[in-house]
Amino acid sequence: MNKTRHITNPQVTEYMNGFYKAASPELDELRRQAETDDVPIILKETEDYLNTLLAMVKPKRILEIGTAVGYSAAYFAVKSGAAVVTIEKGEDVHLTAKSNIEELGLSGQVRLYCGDGEEETLKLMEAGEEAFDLVFIDAAKSHYKRFLDAALKLSHPGTVIVADNVLFQAKTVSDEYDPSGKHKTNIRRLREFIEYVYDHPALETSLAACGDGLTISVVKEI
Ligand SMILES: C[S@@+](CC[C@H](N)C(=O)[O-])C[C@H]1O[C@@H](n2cnc3c(N)ncnc32)[C@H](O)[C@@H]1O
Repeated sequence: MNKTRHITNPQVTEYMNGFYKAASPELDELRRQAETDDVPIILKETEDYLNTLLAMVKPKRILEIGTAVGYSAAYFAVKSGAAVVTIEKGEDVHLTAKSNIEELGLSGQVRLYCGDGEEETLKLMEAGEEAFDLVFIDAAKSHYKRFLDAALKLSHPGTVIVADNVLFQAKTVSDEYDPSGKHKTNIRRLREFIEYVYDHPALETSLAACGDGLTISVVKEI
């Protein structure tokens, strides 16, 4: 994918990506396939950033909202050894992810659900699911707030909640990056989401201009 990104200088990104190492040859191949098929998966520099976060948090249980073809779910499983639960709304892509996870031999570690991120998370809670140590939100940008509110119900003090693409190729920062106004709703909702996580009394949040922009929030209290 070669979209213009305004968050970091492309030369800086290229330099950072020089340090990228795939978690396994199989994941490298899955990344290549997703990029060829134009499936949006986590950027290399985002993955690089998550590597350190995983080493710090040492999660045993990870919740992901937005599976796509299962790349990041497989990455989380391989890199951290955690049990991963991932939710995807699109039926076809959910089935592709399921078959990718099976092919990677990760079916015992990754549970895949098809449905809306908020609804499925609440169903898990009602079914008595244990709290997660790390939550990764990477789905429909205009719904991040409801995904986060649902994820908070399956969190504990110390849970880290990461939301990807919050700077949306800098469109969140300035309307000048959306001259046609096509992304107005996503932009407004992402701005509201960022304010929400910064102001939330139970969260300590930082914004990282890495990849397409990440919020990293730590749950202080429930
Ligand atoms: C950016 S992709 C996820 C990429 C994936 N996390 C990775 O890095 O390999 C976003 C995915 O979220 C899914 N999605 C959109 N709305 C959703 C919703 N309400 N609930 C769950 N998934 C949703 C989309 O169908 C899409 O496959």
